[in-house]
Amino acid sequence: MIDDALIVQATAVLKAGGLVGLPTETVYGLAADASSAQAIAKIYAAKGRPSDHPVIVHLAHAEQIKDWAIDISEEAWTLARAFWPGPMTLILKRAPHVLDAVTGRQDTVGLRIPSHPVAHAVLAAFGGGVAAPSANKFGRVSPTTAQHVREEFGDAIDLVLDGGASEVGIESTIIDCSTAVLRVLRPGMVTESMIANALGQNGKPVAEQKAATPRVSGSLDAHYAPCTRLLLVTPETLAATLAAQQPGCVAVLSHARPAGFSGEWRQAATDARVYARELYAHLRELDGVGADMMLIEAPPQRAEWDGVNDRLRRAAYGSGET
Ligand code: TXA
Ligand code: MG
Repeated sequence: MIDDALIVQATAVLKAGGLVGLPTETVYGLAADASSAQAIAKIYAAKGRPSDHPVIVHLAHAEQIKDWAIDISEEAWTLARAFWPGPMTLILKRAPHVLDAVTGRQDTVGLRIPSHPVAHAVLAAFGGGVAAPSANKFGRVSPTTAQHVREEFGDAIDLVLDGGASEVGIESTIIDCSTAVLRVLRPGMVTESMIANALGQNGKPVAEQKAATPRVSGSLDAHYAPCTRLLLVTPETLAATLAAQQPGCVAVLSHARPAGFSGEWRQAATDARVYARELYAHLRELDGVGADMMLIEAPPQRAEWDGVNDRLRRAAYGSGET
């Protein structure tokens, strides 16, 4: 059920240049009016994020992308029809009016039409574009519940809307449609094979982004990290790795509780979609149990796990192991 009074309140906060914790189907966003440089500055300040990192502009309807982008290719429209509203962001050539604060002074802009009913209601009522990075401090785990957003920001934001736990659980797939070769800049639940299927045989080839550039902050290696040291281990080495640790100091995320282990354990789902939905809540919970180390059993290396494996690799970065 959507609370109309809260939608009106959220719209008023956005119009006044304030910040709203906004539920989306991927993760919660920290939302501000994308046409106000002052409002966007508040996002950067609250997140502690470098200001050359661009933010995604969220819109209610796909046709609105014409107000924000130019030179929109046939492929981009095909992807828009196939996956919007939903967990996909398209990078397109920016329209001249789009603020540098939104684009990070690049000639492109990231656009997304979320499917979450609360996000849609706010965007439709607001009418304009809403800049919304994930509602976490820079480099930390993204929030998938309203409570996560409150824990992260406390009173520093004006309003947090509660739209329940995010369905998808990891951030949108980002596809760069601004150049001749389409590129997946950030994997997500819209997978490369889904993209290729949607484009059909006449579609442009899809390449994966190899270089880590600050253009996508998720592509910085240490992104999405919990505070506790995190070790990703294969199913075969889980038991031996666990046996080598001090008991009581380890928290584990794996398919089955390791034999003889009585410490903090969360059950990992066998389905990639369910795993993604639960991942950030698991990381936050296990981060909070006071363990010295989090041991995570690596999921399969299959295509439907690309988004999950990408986030786990980044979360484990810096722990000295892969
Ligand atoms: O699922 C999502 O995309 C969530 C929800 C709230 O919509 N948002 C999100 O925003 O993940 P954020 O800011 O945490 O991640 C967006 C990524 C950033 O890494 C940013 O660098 C990249 O998108 N990005 C935005 N505009 C871009 C552009 N013009 N070129 C390249 N990358 C861009
Ligand atoms: Mg983020």
